[in-house]
Amino acid sequence: MDDSNRKINRRIDDYYFGGSGSERTLRENRRALDSLRIIPRALQGSLNIDTTTNLGGVSVPFPIAVAPMAYLSLLAEKGEETMARSAARSGVSFVLSTRSAIALERVAETFIANRRSISTSSALAGIFFQIYLMKDKGLTLSFIERAKSAGFDGFIFTVDAPYIFPRRRDRANGFSISEKMVRGNLPEAFTPGAATLKGDPTIGRSAAAFDEALMQDPNIDESVILEVVRACSPLPVILKGVMAPHDIALAGSLSTGAIVSNHGGRQLDGSITAVDAMKLFASSNKVRPRSLWMDGGISYGSDVLRSLALGCDGALVGKAFAKAMRRGGESELKRAIGLMKEEFLVAMALVGANRPKDITPDCLFGY
Ligand SMILES: Cc1cc2nc3c(=O)[nH]c(=O)nc-3n(C[C@H](O)[C@H](O)[C@H](O)COP(=O)(O)O)c2cc1C
Repeated sequence: MDDSNRKINRRIDDYYFGGSGSERTLRENRRALDSLRIIPRALQGSLNIDTTTNLGGVSVPFPIAVAPMAYLSLLAEKGEETMARSAARSGVSFVLSTRSAIALERVAETFIANRRSISTSSALAGIFFQIYLMKDKGLTLSFIERAKSAGFDGFIFTVDAPYIFPRRRDRANGFSISEKMVRGNLPEAFTPGAATLKGDPTIGRSAAAFDEALMQDPNIDESVILEVVRACSPLPVILKGVMAPHDIALAGSLSTGAIVSNHGGRQLDGSITAVDAMKLFASSNKVRPRSLWMDGGISYGSDVLRSLALGCDGALVGKAFAKAMRRGGESELKRAIGLMKEEFLVAMALVGANRPKDITPDCLFGY
């Protein structure tokens, strides 16, 4: 690899796998999971395991979903499709980011064509589309309509990024998503003609305008959330990026569910972890959302078990799968997903659980 390629690769790694500010939250995410020790149950046999759970009320075969991540194609050729295909074939659900290099219709088609039933559940993996409330609300609504027509099972509505916390590595590297990166979801309005094609001279201008339009509207409140939820109907919506007990409960009353997340250590530097947030929520005695997931640092099947023991229906996985795809494309990704599933299944058996609901706080030491 020549020097300039190595430099580009390092800048992409810094963007993809780095965190905000001091990166303390990024590190804490992992540490918080490690601090939760699991109590094995040797005398409680576990047979006929069924791993079915729900994501936004949709029955899915595994409590594992790929987290929405911007421009997966930075990591591998046709990254969004590679991730969608690998997840679908493994029975793992998938959330496509609004910031995708491949059009949402194409990714949905790939996912739906590849999903198949797996042995521990009769449910099929779900595909969800991640939206933001954008300053241009019409743009948000147009994505919702497109995703509905494309066959998505529901929406993940990200609410924790009205402002982007600075990332020091990206600043030092002068990194930004290249204007040449195809904005796969760029609507016609931004690109008179066929400007989504690489090499089109208008792409730079269109990309900049599109990126600007994608910025989240910081002026969010209950009524606008309800408006978006109504627009998504009859499909379910889950609010992603809530941490405070009040916000988790409110998300549950406004939508179908909540994802407890600090955005993988990429937003507020020094923020609590999802593990902390789930503990806080449990002690608050507030009403639990119908569907409750968490993310941040999930790297092993035993982390998924920890998430369930904390009261979640499942866990989203971001960087662990992104790293596998970066390292070795589709085959490495397949291996990583398979290994996480196997670890989860064996962990479930070793705590004597037959169903996700059997995994309770009693599985955790000192909790
Ligand atoms: C490179 C990168 C891009 C991301 N882009 C998005 C995004 O477009 N929308 C979103 O809701 N979350 C985004 N996230 C956050 C993830 O959905 C998820 O919350 C986080 O990565 C989970 O932590 P983990 O990476 O430690 O598993 C992104 C994360 C990474 C690493």
